[in-house]
Amino acid sequence: MKINIAIDGPSAAGKSTIAKRLGNRLGYVHLDTGAMYRSTALKCVNSGISLDDEDAVCEMLKNTEITLTPEGKVYLDGQDVSDAIRTDEISMAASKVSAHKNVRRDLVARQQEMAKAKGFIMDGRDIGTVVLKDAEVKIYMTASAEARALRRYRQNIEKGIPTTDVETIAEEIRQRDYDDMHRENSPLRKADDATEVDTSDMTIEEVVERIYQLAEPFLKKEA
Ligand code: DC
Repeated sequence: MKINIAIDGPSAAGKSTIAKRLGNRLGYVHLDTGAMYRSTALKCVNSGISLDDEDAVCEMLKNTEITLTPEGKVYLDGQDVSDAIRTDEISMAASKVSAHKNVRRDLVARQQEMAKAKGFIMDGRDIGTVVLKDAEVKIYMTASAEARALRRYRQNIEKGIPTTDVETIAEEIRQRDYDDMHRENSPLRKADDATEVDTSDMTIEEVVERIYQLAEPFLKKEA
């Protein structure tokens, strides 16, 4: 039997990067649930559906296919949107759609279905608290807003994504943190049984190693 690993935390804490690396090391599949909220937001923006209209967004989702490939690509209704969902505009829009209870219900059900087979590293905001309550390993990953803004800025430049300055990104990150932590439905919080890892002063390798060590006892049982 394989296990599931849940990684939650605020935006740009390094969850996806770490989950991807860990996935390669363990031979597990990384599922970036934020990409599903982002894809939903992108489709709303592209089709003129108000981000505040919960019923309309849910209706739209009934005819929406979101595919996350093991290679990390994101397809929305068959179209590669891997880069299009990473803009600052879509980040803010995703935060808005993710506040709706019934939007979450739809996407959470898809995530739970995907993770049934085990062998997944899922990252998001509510994985340890809602989606995979019984995940064998739960991580709550944090980093200061400044460290996260700098990482996001460098990432944007690297990928050729239009970007604002670091201070503006930090402001947006603080705003999104606040929204994600204070929303009524599944607010971002550390699960009681999660291990907190502050990555501000850690290298990627150090974080991967830390989580690997937490998973190791289960992996031995698995063998
Ligand atoms: O992790 P991210 O920045 O790609 O997430 C985009 C938005 O989606 C973010 O504002 C929080 C929301 N989200 C969520 O509410 N639940 C998840 N499991 C994943 C993301």
